[in-house]
Amino acid sequence: MRATTWMLLICLLIGQFYGERASPIGEENGEDYQDDDYDYGGEDDSGNSDGPLAPILEDVQSSPPYFEQSDVVIDAKPGDDVIINCDARNFEIKNVAMWYKNRTVLATGQNAINNRVEVMRNNSLRISNVTAEDADDYYCVVLPQDVRQHTKLSVGARLSILCDDRDVTDRSQTFKQGDRHKLVCRTYLPTKTDIKWSLNGQRLQPAPSDAANGVIVLDNVDEENAGVYQCLGDDGSADPPHGMVTVDVQYSPKVSTHRHHVNTQEGGSAELYCDYRANPIAISFFIKDGKTLSLSDKYSIRNTLHKEHNRTTLVIKHVEASDLGEYLCHVENAIGSNEVRIQLSYRPETPQYEDSSIDGKQVTMHWLVRSLQPLSEAMLDYRLTGSYTWSTVSVIQTQRHDKDSGIWKITHQMELSPGLWHARVKTKNTQGWSNFSPDHDFHIKDVEDSDEIDDGAVPPGDLVRAGFGVGSGNNSACTMGMLPGLMIAAFSIAMLRL
Ligand SMILES: *[C@@H]1O[C@H](CO)[C@@H](O)[C@H](O)[C@H]1NC(C)=O
Ligand SMILES: *[C@@H]1O[C@H](CO)[C@@H](O)[C@H](O)[C@H]1NC(C)=O
Ligand SMILES: *[C@@H]1O[C@H](CO)[C@@H](O)[C@H](O)[C@H]1NC(C)=O
Ligand SMILES: *[C@@H]1O[C@H](CO)[C@@H](O)[C@H](O)[C@H]1NC(C)=O
Ligand SMILES: *[C@@H]1O[C@H](CO)[C@@H](O)[C@H](O)[C@H]1NC(C)=O
Repeated sequence: MRATTWMLLICLLIGQFYGERASPIGEENGEDYQDDDYDYGGEDDSGNSDGPLAPILEDVQSSPPYFEQSDVVIDAKPGDDVIINCDARNFEIKNVAMWYKNRTVLATGQNAINNRVEVMRNNSLRISNVTAEDADDYYCVVLPQDVRQHTKLSVGARLSILCDDRDVTDRSQTFKQGDRHKLVCRTYLPTKTDIKWSLNGQRLQPAPSDAANGVIVLDNVDEENAGVYQCLGDDGSADPPHGMVTVDVQYSPKVSTHRHHVNTQEGGSAELYCDYRANPIAISFFIKDGKTLSLSDKYSIRNTLHKEHNRTTLVIKHVEASDLGEYLCHVENAIGSNEVRIQLSYRPETPQYEDSSIDGKQVTMHWLVRSLQPLSEAMLDYRLTGSYTWSTVSVIQTQRHDKDSGIWKITHQMELSPGLWHARVKTKNTQGWSNFSPDHDFHIKDVEDSDEIDDGAVPPGDLVRAGFGVGSGNNSACTMGMLPGLMIAAFSIAMLRL
């Protein structure tokens, strides 16, 4: 309030002063604008011998003050000392410069009203140690003509994140798979700061050479590089500067299936699963024998959203021999395409290792197999690390199952000598053999370590415990033909009621 009153007073005074001469100046300006520079120059150089009043009068009559630039932009960093100029041409002694911060008066002439600022002899405004609060629109208004210059002062954050040398603080970026990008976190603080990066809340450890200057290099960008990157300039204060950038990565679809081999039976139906992740959004379709499958009585498609991926399921009805074979799931988006192959057959699916327990030298392992047809046989291979040949145990399964959920559990128990072992399983149904399961690796510890507890151990579940086991430091023990009765005892296949 007081400031406004004060300003008003000045305006009135100046207005009055100016008003007395208003008309002659107006006329002069209209007619003889060109002469100004000449007069001005002459007076400056030679020093007119007339009294001090004469030149002033002459100038007032000749031209009003003006700014060469009406809008100026200043970018400063916190802590900078900023000088905002008020570089009016034809500024005369009778002119007064007033400084405004947006609508608020900061200074009149050389008198600063606000103690944040200081007005210099040439009317420039000086702000020491600028902060974010100083960022604003500043106006230098030259009275009485009321010509003004606008200066936009922006004060950058105390910290900024640069991506490939562009400021991306608190913004988002889209990268493409395979690209290379550099993220730099920079602080503008007088004190030394410890730059800390994190991705999705997890602390990132930059390469040692980059650690000091807060640089993260993303080479060969891929899906896992997407997320929220945060940078903290730890200066030991309670309110350290920080910033973030959200990175989106576009990549060609990643396609997989959890069942590469799908078992089915004549007249039944089959489901083939195609799982994929993609950004941007992708489309998927199935191909058999080079032809894209379209929806029909035989084929239907189901699209579902899962947590980690999207799934397209192909349902094949009334399966006959001609439906068997290889199916291709093709997924494509704007970036590229990928495929997964799925085999449909009457043979058992590839056995999947389920779990195992080790008790002293005795190991009990479980696998799951899917086969709508009865399993007739299972075969287990095992070997010690370093041995090139597999030892084999096989069983002829005669046990009948009562339900046709199609999942079988294979359990095997054996005694082995200490060492790192590998085991794999394949099964046979009425139509043929499955593939071997992937190796399951397990470690049998030295007998001394845990010998005592062995004897009383009871195998889990429906397993028939056998006195049969294979103890071998080398692989010769099991290569001989075995009696079927013994083998059934050692190796059991049972239906799981699911
Ligand atoms: C005004 O003076 C300050 C300090 O002497 C200087 O930095 C600034 O450039 C001057 N402004 C003009 C327009 O000459
Ligand atoms: C600048 O301002 C900041 C915050 O207002 C303050 O902590 C710092 O001490 C100041 N620095 C100087 C040199 O005045
Ligand atoms: C200037 O003041 C007006 C009203 O007080 C406000 O709406 C505007 O945001 C201010 N401008 C800046 C740059 O702070
Ligand atoms: C799954 O599909 C939806 C659209 O149907 C899409 O928004 C989403 O990003 C996809 N998810 C993945 C992991 O690809
Ligand atoms: C393995 O069997 C061979 C005979 O086939 C025997 O000479 C050797 O000592 C056995 N090794 C171990 C570790 O039992």
